[in-house]
Amino acid sequence: MRRKAILITGAAGEVGQALVERLAENNADDAHIISMDLNPLPPTLAMKVHHIVGDILDQTLFERLVSEYDITHIYHLAALLSTRAEYSPMLAHKVNVGGTMQLLQLAADQSEWKRKPVVFVFPSSVAAFGMGTLENKAQNPRPQEWEWNNPITMYGCNKLYGETLGVYYANHYKQLAEDEPAMLDFRCVRFPGLISAFTVPSGGTSDYGPEMLHAAAQNKAYDCFVRESAAIPFMAMPDAVESLVQIAATPRENLKHQIYNITAFSLTAEEFAAHVQKHFPNAQISYKPDINRQRIIDSWPIDMNDDAARRDWGWNPKYDAEKAFSEYLVPNIRKRYEK
Ligand code: SER
Repeated sequence: MRRKAILITGAAGEVGQALVERLAENNADDAHIISMDLNPLPPTLAMKVHHIVGDILDQTLFERLVSEYDITHIYHLAALLSTRAEYSPMLAHKVNVGGTMQLLQLAADQSEWKRKPVVFVFPSSVAAFGMGTLENKAQNPRPQEWEWNNPITMYGCNKLYGETLGVYYANHYKQLAEDEPAMLDFRCVRFPGLISAFTVPSGGTSDYGPEMLHAAAQNKAYDCFVRESAAIPFMAMPDAVESLVQIAATPRENLKHQIYNITAFSLTAEEFAAHVQKHFPNAQISYKPDINRQRIIDSWPIDMNDDAARRDWGWNPKYDAEKAFSEYLVPNIRKRYEK
């Protein structure tokens, strides 16, 4: 008998580390957790799971894994983020699209073999939107999942296509007859910019928020790479992790969609800075917009309509901006840099 397991790719990334921690503490089936990344996990986390340092494009690695484990859930987090992907579009496509394809195929094969769909959780992004102009952005602050799907970044294109591939595998792959069971159970959330107290992001475009905060906590001056008025949605990391666990645990029949916007609060860069300065009055923040990164932020909506997630699976973030700063970010960041 193969042992039941949950697979997390991109486990050494920001969301990955938080999710590994959360699932190692508590997962409903008491399943074995296999985490995977190109990089090792920090030692305190690595102790808690079975971590594999490896490439998601390496097929033989997965062949070995499925011979040993019955993978019931896949959290496919591995990706190159939006700014980094602009510098290395070929690599981004390989990892973001090729990696997703590889994992979807693995999940479909396993689902078919067991005749039970593997749950595939895919984090997509606000980057899947493209508002076209600042007028559109101002006039359509809260787009629905299917609106304004015109991404202007390689990462956004990759995520939007990843969503499409997931829906294809779940609903159409090998389903020639209508009564054929679904090949896999695809569940996707579109995240806004995420902010963690414990890790600093790298290669994203929403990074100015967390960078500003972590710089202030270390008493370092910060040049924000977007203008004061730039506005996008954000979320604190604990809410992001809970959303993944929650969507994975929702009974399939409650999920009327496969792709859900989720968000917590929207801020301009200036409002973000005001929250930072409230807790770190000496923070030195100035604005030196980078044309390319500003253009990316301008293309993302101010907010996202997450009514469907709230309705179908009870999405309800714990942290609004005020609470995120005062109860999660600031106390934990202070501790982190005091050490
Ligand atoms: N935080 C991501 C990025 O900036 C968006 O999903 O690329």
